[in-house]
Amino acid sequence: MAATKPLKIVLFLGTVRENRLGLRVAKFMQNYLVKTGHDVDFMDAQELDLPLLKKPLHFYRDQSEAPPLLVDLGQRVKTADGYVMVSGEYNHSIPPALSNLLDYFPGSSFSYKPSAIVCYSPGQYGGMRAAIQLRALLGEIGCLSVSNIFGIPQANKSLDEEGNPQNDHMESGAKRLITQLDWHAHAMRNHRESVGIPK
Ligand SMILES: Cc1cc2nc3c(=O)[nH]c(=O)nc-3n(C[C@H](O)[C@H](O)[C@H](O)COP(=O)(O)O)c2cc1C
Repeated sequence: MAATKPLKIVLFLGTVRENRLGLRVAKFMQNYLVKTGHDVDFMDAQELDLPLLKKPLHFYRDQSEAPPLLVDLGQRVKTADGYVMVSGEYNHSIPPALSNLLDYFPGSSFSYKPSAIVCYSPGQYGGMRAAIQLRALLGEIGCLSVSNIFGIPQANKSLDEEGNPQNDHMESGAKRLITQLDWHAHAMRNHRESVGIPK
């Protein structure tokens, strides 16, 4: 394959709980993405600590009045080629901190670009039920998720606190997912650059 500029991937982590498991999953995915040549921008809901949504970025008519952090984040989201969503499962659904973070930005920042879902839980289902809900949300903002979903059951045993894999399934699961993301992200970037996006 011809050399191309690296894909810029925004990696979202959407839980903020004390002692959350999500951080080790995000660290693993960050390491994997860096190792495989991606330009990774990690957006952690806990670190960003945005309040419950009162005013999304795109609701500021005069963008110079929007909080500078939000403007900066918005620019980083908008210029990404694709997204990796690291999601836990709360009541069979999307953790509220994740949807809160995504809701700050217009759908147009995400649309015509692909996403990849990584879900996890300490139990046996690996957060899959939340992933299906997240897939619907991502569809609404035009950020279609690739067919593979990387579900990590027993995430507390599959990864250590630093995100180091504790079994062989972690690398192969990440590879399956990110191979699909890469294909779609390259194809969509090429097409955006050659014909643009619909008005
Ligand atoms: C409010 C809440 C609801 C939960 N609901 C589910 C659930 O529906 N299914 C599940 O497998 N685990 C559920 N859990 C357990 C989570 O999978 C587990 O706490 C996981 O570590 C959450 O991710 P986090 O550690 O990154 O916050 C729930 C946890 C919380 C706090």
